Amino acid sequence: MKKMIAAALTGIMVVSLAAAVSAEDGTLVMATNAEFPPYEYHEGDEIVGIDAEVAALVAEELGLELKIEDMSFDSVLAAVQSGKADIAMAGITVTEDRKQVVNFSDTYMKATQMIIVAEDSEIAGPDDLVGKTIGVQLGTTGDIYVEDVEDATVERFSKGFEAVQALIQGKVDAVVIDGEPAKVFVQENEGIKLLDDPFTEEEYAIAIAKDNEELLTQVNDALADLKESGKFDEIVDKYIGDNADEAESETEA
Ligand code: ARG
Repeated sequence: MKKMIAAALTGIMVVSLAAAVSAEDGTLVMATNAEFPPYEYHEGDEIVGIDAEVAALVAEELGLELKIEDMSFDSVLAAVQSGKADIAMAGITVTEDRKQVVNFSDTYMKATQMIIVAEDSEIAGPDDLVGKTIGVQLGTTGDIYVEDVEDATVERFSKGFEAVQALIQGKVDAVVIDGEPAKVFVQENEGIKLLDDPFTEEEYAIAIAKDNEELLTQVNDALADLKESGKFDEIVDKYIGDNADEAESETEA
């Protein structure tokens, strides 16, 4: 019995120690890949977007200051695993494989993988991707899922926008990427269009190291508070939907 209590206490100590590390220097370090509008992208010297703003408020609720570390998307989970970052927030889709290496917070957004093609393309839906050359961002769910498309050739790019550029230049037949960045890229570029049918349905969550259960609870509590107070929806509305453009020009001014 004593042994069990001792073991339980050690467990608790380890957990609070991990939480104390980030609290000690007063920062919450977030790993992201800021090439993903409207979730995270560069605006001048700043990284802005839904994830950046939500993370800043989560940090505030925890009494910490947010510090964003920009890196390649295929490094963000490793960054939390190694303790280089406290959280990873990058429009990260929850998958069974990823759950093996990190913990996920409650999901905060629904998402889809969508298909972008040239305006005059014969590709009209997911079934037409068979045998085609498909551009994706390296390490994303788009990358993972197109593996299953029969006879397709997959071209992997370090940034989603580079895949879109390859499409515009006729180097790939289609791009599979998350719906909201897809909309932004299609809006900003001539000659390409978004297909109606989504390729997959997914959900985004914040990734946290497996051994940091305490931070997981704190982040979930903060997310719940932000949803309840309406602050979460305010941020989303600023970047997505009918009022998004207005808000954008306001921030630019
Ligand atoms: N939702 C996709 C995934 O989790 C793509 C996320 C890409 N995010 C980024 N910030 N580049 O794999």
